[in-house]
Formats: sequence, C-alpha cells, structure tokens
Amino acid sequence: CGDDEGGDAGGGGGDGKLVLGFAQVGAESGWRTANTKSIQESAAEAGYELKFSDAQGKQENQIKAIRSFITQRVDVIAFSPVVESGWDTVLKEAQDAEIPVILTDRAIDSPDESLYESFIGSDFVLEGEKAGEWLVEEYKDETEPVNIVELQGTPGAAPANDRKAGFAEVIKADPKFKVIASQTGQFTRTDGKQVMETFLNSNDDIDVLYAHNDDMGLGAIEAIEAAGLEPGKDIKIITVDAVKDGMTALSEGKINFIVECSPLLGPQLMELAQTVADGGTVEKRVLTEETTFTPEQAKEVLPERQY
Ligand code: AHR
Repeated sequence: CGDDEGGDAGGGGGDGKLVLGFAQVGAESGWRTANTKSIQESAAEAGYELKFSDAQGKQENQIKAIRSFITQRVDVIAFSPVVESGWDTVLKEAQDAEIPVILTDRAIDSPDESLYESFIGSDFVLEGEKAGEWLVEEYKDETEPVNIVELQGTPGAAPANDRKAGFAEVIKADPKFKVIASQTGQFTRTDGKQVMETFLNSNDDIDVLYAHNDDMGLGAIEAIEAAGLEPGKDIKIITVDAVKDGMTALSEGKINFIVECSPLLGPQLMELAQTVADGGTVEKRVLTEETTFTPEQAKEVLPERQY
C-alpha cells in the first residue's frame, strides 16, 4: 500500500492524478502474478497513483484494505474478491462514502448490483464447460467408465465454484464419466502436488485429471511422474489459465488441453476507472475474450506468449 494520506474528496493525491485502490487476492499462482503485473503496469502507463494491497488469500485482509482505501478517500476502488460471499457491509461503506467500486476477475454473490459499477473478467462457468466438452469429444468412442479426479480452486472462490459447475453440467450427459475424487488444491502448485499424491495413493485407475488452474496441474504432474506414470498419456490432464509454464507443459504433451483465462485485465480496468471517476456510465459486465489450446496450438503461440 502507498502511504499517501490522500486529501481532497475525490481527488486522492491532490495533484489531479486519479488514485486507484486495488485489493489483490495474493500471489497464489502464475496467473495472479501476471494479473498483478498487468494492473501495475497499466496504472503507471495511465499516470494513475496505484495503492496496491496483497491480501495473502484472506478475505479479512481484503476488507481491511478496502476500509483503508475508503479512509484515504481514493477515487476508485477495485478488487478481485477472494471468495464470493460476505462483501455487502464493506461495499455499503464504500457506497456511503461515494467511492465507486469495480470488481475485477471474480464476482461476488450479492443480489445488490448497486454495490459496484462494473465487473470485468472471465466467464468461469463457460471455462468449465469448455473443459468438459473437450473430454466428451476425446472419449467419444470409449465404452468403459472414464475415472476423473478433480483439483478444485480455493473453496468459495468464484472460479472454483463455476469451473466445477460448468464441467459437471457437460459431463453429466454421459454416465461413463465418473468424478471419483474432488478436492481443493488451493490454486497452488504445492497443494496440487500433495492432493494428487493422495489421489494416486487411494485410486489405482485414474484416467483423467481436471485441475481448475495450471499451477495445480503442474504440481500434480510432479506427483504423477514420481509415481512412475506418464502425465498426458497414463493420465490425461486438462487445466485452466494458459500461463507460460502451463503452455510449456502442454507443448511437451504433459498436459492435453488448456482452457484460457486471461489475466491481462489492467488496460480495460484503467479505462473503466477513468470513466467511473468522471461520473460516466459503464457496462455492468465486461467479459474477457478467451480461447482454448491443444499441444499443437501451444507450440505455435508459445514464442509470443507474454506471461
Ligand atoms: O480468479 C482467477 C483464478 O485465480 C486463476 O485461474 C487462478 O490461477 C488464480 O489463482
């Protein structure tokens, strides 16, 4: 966090610069690191003063940061909610202080849409559906059961809830698809590896791993290799994000399919922040455009991949 006390209402730093308070989730994944970089670089490019806070994965820290932004009277508050629930009170405080709020990357589950101006980010349900559709196609000629293990993101986080739901909705059409184990790997490599080890110890017939992000998939690959199995062949792997390390593993055939989730939200966030600070109206929902990657496609785009 910057230590500028702010000052004039709506003026933040007092030198005419737009002051943006951003409360980040943490640094749990390659995706998050790229997202933070995008926001910091875009704010610098736009000439805004960025007050940046890292919540280290804790909702209470994010709430504290938002309260501190309110006290400092920043012009705009943006944040990526750690979990979906429990934001109404603090967002009401921002509303009472007439400080506009923008949600980035993750949604909240409050029915009161007046608590924020806009939500910019991916459609996580669609991402889960894309993962499921690839699986259905890949196993279309299979008549035996397909045993799936799932590494979920942080409990209560929108991408964990929605990626699980979207995937389940697609694969339920065929009873041969069986999710035999599903647990959180907290979106981190360490937990992904550890949980995959327990999956491997208790199930000897895993066909597919569906990991809610690349980092957990990369951790799981280590566990699979340590168990003497070949990732991508003995166990097919689907992940979400498409960060460089994930794309590298995909190009090597260790991951079979990645659903993209773009972390490069900075430039659009700065535009939205300027518009709301000027009292203009913005779209309530700004959707990120994304694609999917096979190993061949990963090889093609890797040299130019920014993150
Ligand atoms: O909210 C986006 C998710 O959070 C990313 O997919 C994951 O890697 C990150 O930690």
